[in-house]
Amino acid sequence: MNYRHAFHAGNFADVFKHAILLALLDALTAKDKPLCCFDTHAGRGLYALDDVEAAKTGEWRDGIGRLFAGPEAPAPLRRYVDAIRACNPDGTLRVYPGSPLLAAQALRANDRLVLCEMQDEEAVALRALFRDDPRAHVHARDGYAALNALLPPAERRGLVLIDPPFEEQEGEFATIEAALRKAHARWPNGVYAVWYPIKSHRNIAPFLRHLSAGPFDKAFVAELLVRPDDSTLRLNGCGMLVANPPWQLDARLATLLPALRDTLAQSPGASQRLRWLRGE
Ligand SMILES: C[S@@+](CC[C@H](N)C(=O)[O-])C[C@H]1O[C@@H](n2cnc3c(N)ncnc32)[C@H](O)[C@@H]1O
Repeated sequence: MNYRHAFHAGNFADVFKHAILLALLDALTAKDKPLCCFDTHAGRGLYALDDVEAAKTGEWRDGIGRLFAGPEAPAPLRRYVDAIRACNPDGTLRVYPGSPLLAAQALRANDRLVLCEMQDEEAVALRALFRDDPRAHVHARDGYAALNALLPPAERRGLVLIDPPFEEQEGEFATIEAALRKAHARWPNGVYAVWYPIKSHRNIAPFLRHLSAGPFDKAFVAELLVRPDDSTLRLNGCGMLVANPPWQLDARLATLLPALRDTLAQSPGASQRLRWLRGE
């Protein structure tokens, strides 16, 4: 496994993913009852933007870099930008929080966070980051296998975020689909959010077609292209499949996605869409 998220932390795909993650968690925490949030591919949880990895690609400059400096962020993105600001309290963008830290910020005292990370070095850093947070449980193991072992959570409410590195390219979709089917059998009412890269829509179509036929009764995809998907050689955009979306999340994303497109566009052909696969 070669993937290191430090090269990509804070890029346009992270902004998209994390803004949607916060919208999901805000919707779920609007109800009083405790919940459990699973992050199957957690990463190290916090990334220094002056580290060699981040500096080498500079990807964050066309992501969080566009939102942090300059005029106030568009209204639909302020919740997300405030969360990044909370990690950079002196007003200078130095670090970028990963999904575990953003989720921990959004969750309440009686919620739980289950974090899986398979690379030792990343898992060690993650464990150190959450050493003093009794809500967080770090597992240095395969996130897909962990779902089999740990679902459903005792709370019977919550979210599973699946955010793999896609080193297997299209092969990862088959792994995700199998994991979702098993997870659905164990916990049909959980909310599931799956991030995926878009080079070309052709590569994603079979995955989405299969999920349009089940097993979840309700599912949509939110997608952002920062440029047209006319070259399979680069990351042109990304999407999030949301199964069992919380009530009115689609309406919330209908304002969030255009703001993401306008902020993160890298060419005039940038676009966004939200499409129900099942059960609108
Ligand atoms: C895209 S990064 C995660 C980023 C993180 N979710 C965030 O938003 O901050 C993917 C992570 O998954 C880890 N990983 C790869 N395969 C895994 C597996 N089968 N189970 C758990 N973690 C895995 C990688 O080491 C990497 O840190």
